[in-house]
Amino acid sequence: MTGLVQDSVYQTEALIAEDIDAYLDQHQHKTMLRFITCGSVDDGKSTLIGRLLYDSKMIFEDQLEALTADSKRVGTQNGEIDFALLVDGLAAEREQGITIDVAYRFFSTEKRKFIVADTPGHEQYTRNMVTGASTADLAVILIDARKGVLTQTRRHSYLAHLIGIKNLVLAINKMDLIGYDQTRYDAILADYTTFANSIGITAFTAMPISGFKGDNISLRSDAMPWYDGPTLMEHLETVEVSVDDDRAKPFRMPVQWVNRPNLDFRGFSGQVATGSVGPGDRVRVLPGGKTSTISRVVTLDGDLDQAVAGQSVTLCLADEIDCSRGNVIVLADAPPETADQFETTLVWMDDEPLVVGRAYWLKLGTQTVSATVREPKYQLNINTMDHLAAKTLDLNAIGVAEIITDRPLVFEPYAQNRTLGGFILIDRISNATVAAGMLHFSLRRAQNVHWQATDIRREEHAALKNQQPRVLWFTGLSGSGKSTIANEVEKALALMNRHTFLLDGDNVRHGLNKDLGFTEADRIENIRRVGEVAKLMADAGLIVLTAFISPFRAERDMIRAMLPPGEFIEIFVETPLEVAEQRDVKGLYKKARDGQLKNFTGIDSPYEAPTNAEIRVNTVEMTPAEAAEFIVRQIMPLK
Ligand code: ADX
Repeated sequence: MTGLVQDSVYQTEALIAEDIDAYLDQHQHKTMLRFITCGSVDDGKSTLIGRLLYDSKMIFEDQLEALTADSKRVGTQNGEIDFALLVDGLAAEREQGITIDVAYRFFSTEKRKFIVADTPGHEQYTRNMVTGASTADLAVILIDARKGVLTQTRRHSYLAHLIGIKNLVLAINKMDLIGYDQTRYDAILADYTTFANSIGITAFTAMPISGFKGDNISLRSDAMPWYDGPTLMEHLETVEVSVDDDRAKPFRMPVQWVNRPNLDFRGFSGQVATGSVGPGDRVRVLPGGKTSTISRVVTLDGDLDQAVAGQSVTLCLADEIDCSRGNVIVLADAPPETADQFETTLVWMDDEPLVVGRAYWLKLGTQTVSATVREPKYQLNINTMDHLAAKTLDLNAIGVAEIITDRPLVFEPYAQNRTLGGFILIDRISNATVAAGMLHFSLRRAQNVHWQATDIRREEHAALKNQQPRVLWFTGLSGSGKSTIANEVEKALALMNRHTFLLDGDNVRHGLNKDLGFTEADRIENIRRVGEVAKLMADAGLIVLTAFISPFRAERDMIRAMLPPGEFIEIFVETPLEVAEQRDVKGLYKKARDGQLKNFTGIDSPYEAPTNAEIRVNTVEMTPAEAAEFIVRQIMPLK
């Protein structure tokens, strides 16, 4: 990640929520507008925000003095204040704390209070833009009047629209630098209108401004008598914010945590996402589906008769039913869907491209599941809005792809419900947020395929064999000795009357996986299938041995997570590349070096050595027989 820190849309929301609470206390009666400013690096965002803060008197005296001094030092014309210095200074301070990449600033006027998310404008900072936009009511798209509509303008407008921000302001900035020229303004406006219409933006408010000079920010500009619309501040103060939309929807609240201070109290805490709720309401807990009645709505300030969208509350139910973090409490008669396969739009935000088939964490509200992405249906060309064929998604790419989750998610289409339709993907190893996504609709697999409960379960299978199932997962380079050692281990176990089965890479690739090659995606699928087969065999009570290169940590960890704790034993067959290459039993290393074999592990395809393997055997120090004996000794105490 470009030196960025890991956060998520949700953590950020939590942060804001705290700040907002403090802020609300001071300005109880006023409505709140959250907005973001988007633009390229030099479009004048910092100056504009600085100006807004200054005009609303949110800059303290001492900061102002420092600012005037700084401005003199950097030599602005006529000793004018450079507002960018203020905002950039704050940004630098914030970076020391490294919590979020988006700076939230508060200010207020007589009419309203404001939270503005200042998102870094550099091209790769789409992630910040998405983070900032996820909670915004309005977006100010800044254009440098000298440059007109840029790729960044299109990207940010598209993202703002995608994220569902209803109010867009097109602020054509730096009008002072083009002599307040109306013709130029009109041309940019026409250009932008064409683009906006092409992506489905039907309404936006355009205005000519100069953040630096203060034209049409708080005061109407004398230099542009031809413009008769509102100033930016007037618009921000009066634009209608549709909070009521969320309140009119059916009730939904993702459960953040179960509040159980003592045996007499059990409540479910969270923020009401949509609708309202009060004592006596019939509710349903998803994904389980059990129903109950709300007995109390508890807050720190006492019980409520009704809680509405946006409020954080603790709900008590009349019945003792299962409900935990990640569940969603909903109106009993109008529940949302539950599914495990979706069409989605993804905004890729990581330097590492999407790996199709790899398991990522998917966080949707308080739900976290394991998810894999299929090959994208298409990627969007942000300039032309064309659909391009794509095998993956790179940094900043926006595409449409199907996602499959390992457990059903309670969801609603993003267009209906941002909380239950917006999600992020997290890399399981680096923990970085790699994508933001929006669910379109379910592919209805979960409804049609049910898990069949059978009477003879894995415990019975294992008991009949009088053994504890295991998966002995051998991993290592081609030619490291995995198959040979696994074969020796299986023979030793058979002598001890253990029921075993050996799955070997070369063999499985002749049958079950003969459709797969050696690209990254194919190897991931190879290992996923082998993992599933190993799990079935372990369910059948067997001790399973697998011998696959299995070069990627993520997939090995995924299989570990699929099995009961302790059942997966990773065995790293450690052989230096030089040694494996020298052995070259199958002559494949030579072919790879000669360029006749592509994607060969260790040569032009990576091998990620285990960091937490249960057992390691070094084949330089041990013969295969010794290694096998060592392994058997390690695992036998396990019965
Ligand atoms: S894995 O990477 O998907 O785990 P797997 O263990 O199934 O690989 O198969 C590896 C075997 O396939 C090697 O031992 C070798 O015999 C053969 N092979 C053929 N092409 C390649 C290649 N490009 N990279 C690695 N192994 C290959």
